[in-house]
Amino acid sequence: MAGSLVYELENVSYSYQHSKPALEEIDLKIALAERVMLLGPNGCGKSTLQKILAGLIFADSGKVTAFDRKITSKAMSDKRFATALRQKIGFVFQNSDVQLFCTSVLDEIMFGPLTMGLSFSEAKKRAEDLIDYTGIGYLANCSPHHLSGGEKKKVAIAAVVATNPEVLIFDEPTNGLDPKSQRWMIDTINELNKQGKTIILATHYLEFVPELADRIIVLGENHRIIANDLPERILKNRNILLDANLIDPSYNK
Ligand SMILES: Nc1ncnc2c1ncn2[C@@H]1O[C@H](COP(=O)(O)OP(=O)(O)OP(=O)(O)O)[C@@H](O)[C@H]1O
Ligand SMILES: [Mg+2]
Repeated sequence: MAGSLVYELENVSYSYQHSKPALEEIDLKIALAERVMLLGPNGCGKSTLQKILAGLIFADSGKVTAFDRKITSKAMSDKRFATALRQKIGFVFQNSDVQLFCTSVLDEIMFGPLTMGLSFSEAKKRAEDLIDYTGIGYLANCSPHHLSGGEKKKVAIAAVVATNPEVLIFDEPTNGLDPKSQRWMIDTINELNKQGKTIILATHYLEFVPELADRIIVLGENHRIIANDLPERILKNRNILLDANLIDPSYNK
C-alpha cells in the first residue's frame, strides 16, 4: 500500500457489554489520504469499527495503532494524549442529534476551534468562513435542534471540519439528504480529501462507490471483513454484494 500508514488494526475483536460479537478478528491498514469505504449489512459492525478508529471505544482483543501510537483505554486516560488524538480525528455521526449541543449554529461551529485554543475572533472567523462554504449562512443564529435533518448534517460537518482534523470519519453521511445536498456532500468529502484528509466512510449506497472510494472494506453478517479490495473489483463481485445485502437477490446484472 502506498503512502504512510494512519491506522493499523491487527486481529481486533469487540463486543458491547461482552454480549454477542460486533467485530471479529479485524485486520486493516489505512494509509494517509486514502478514501476507504465501509460496506455491509445492518448490524455488521461498520459504526463500531468507526468508533474504534476514533478512539471512542476500545478493542477487547487485538491491537489498534493510529498515527504510530497504540490506542488503548489506558493510553486515552492520559488527557494530553487523548486531546492530541481527538484533534487529529473528526467523526460525523450517523445521527446528528448526538453531535449537536450548542444554542446556535455559529456557537456550534466555533466550539471546536475555541477548545483547541483559538481566540474568540479567530474561532468566529473560521466558523463564519465554514458557514459560507457550507451555504448555511441563513441558519447561523438558529438553534441546531430546530433544523431539518439535512441542515443538521451540514452543521455537524462544518463543526467537525472547523477543528481541521487529519482523518474524517463519516457514518452514513448522505442519509436523509436530498439529491442536491447529497451532491454537495460528495463534493465536500472529495474536496477535503484533496486537501490531504484521510476519509473513512460507511454507507449502504453502491452508487456513491465510484466517486468516493479508493478502496472498499466489506463487513459480513459474521462481523468479519469478507472483502478488502479496489472498488471496481468489489462492484463486479455479485456474491460479495449479495452477502453484504448491497443488492437484492432479484437484482440481475
Ligand atoms: N450500544 C450498543 N450496545 C449493544 N450492542 C450494540 C450497540 N451498538 C451496536 N450494537 C450491536 O453491535 C453490532 C454492530 O452494530 P453497528 O452499529 O456497528 O452496525 P452497523 O454495521 O453500523 O449497522 P447499520 O448499517 O445498521 O448502521 C450489532 O449487532 C448491534 O446490535
Ligand atoms: Mg451504523
